[in-house]
Amino acid sequence: MSDIKKKPVILDGDPGHDDAIALVLAAAFKDQLDIKAITAVGGNQTLAKVTLNYRRIATFLGLKDVPIAAGREQPMLADLVVAPNYHGESGLDGPKLPDPEIPLSELSAVELMAKVLRESDEKVIIVATGPQTNVASLLLAHPELKEKIECISIMGGGLLKGNWTSAAEFNIIVDPESADIEFRSGVPVIMAGLDVTEKAYVLPEEWDKLRGLNPVAKMVAEWCDFFYIHLKELGWEGATLHDPCSVMVLVHPEIFTIKDYYVQIDCKGEYTRGATVPDYMGLLGQKPNCRCMMGVDRELFVKHLFEACESFGKGE
Ligand code: RIB
Ligand code: CA
Repeated sequence: MSDIKKKPVILDGDPGHDDAIALVLAAAFKDQLDIKAITAVGGNQTLAKVTLNYRRIATFLGLKDVPIAAGREQPMLADLVVAPNYHGESGLDGPKLPDPEIPLSELSAVELMAKVLRESDEKVIIVATGPQTNVASLLLAHPELKEKIECISIMGGGLLKGNWTSAAEFNIIVDPESADIEFRSGVPVIMAGLDVTEKAYVLPEEWDKLRGLNPVAKMVAEWCDFFYIHLKELGWEGATLHDPCSVMVLVHPEIFTIKDYYVQIDCKGEYTRGATVPDYMGLLGQKPNCRCMMGVDRELFVKHLFEACESFGKGE
């Protein structure tokens, strides 16, 4: 029995194949992480679709005691942009998942997050792997609960690089205003931006080895199959597992290179809206607000991902 105290976590995302694998990781790390709630946000697909996806994934993983709530349908100010080119019309195209057996919470995502924070005896980690709309809404609605948040571990941004425009990463450009609220909030942010997530890729011959391990490992392999379709067209040699980095860093920080910077969110740029801009040289005289993940030992990342998949047992 591990004597490490479990960390209470809330998972907020927009599944999305990599959000789904992030949830598999969090469930596998059950000795280190205690999933208190799952909340959905419009992003890769519409809120209705990603909420259904979370309910299906949680049913498949047997997370029947974890409440699931729907959050914000639209970004704070902008119109929602979805990503069917990566994740398909359902948001999680590819392998079939069971019909959801977990009811949707009657609470909104913000109120479920607030309830978890209020009731927790210790600070809670929020993992946010979609647009930051729910998290920003929580911070605006319940500033008194900021002190109950240990940190916000996000997948988002890229220090002066993007994947939706040359300057901006998808999660941030969908809702820059929410990211700006979050980065100005004073709550510590750990940022898995493209700087690290594009190095956290799995190769087809690597995820092939998952197929025969157990049903969960097979599902992860088939999610990678679908996710890689568009990535291969773009010339990537493997499936870049963006969102799992935000969970992996909580349990295996030692495999990542992390630098602390003061990061600002560009909400006004004609060509750079949604950029995450680091004050590399400390010219602004501000304390760092973000632990920026810059690199990863890819082999160890894959090793721990496999170990997590193996933990779901052997056989069909
Ligand atoms: O840019 C990658 C991010 O956008 C990932 O979180 C992916 O799931 C999409 O939400
Ligand atoms: Ca996501």
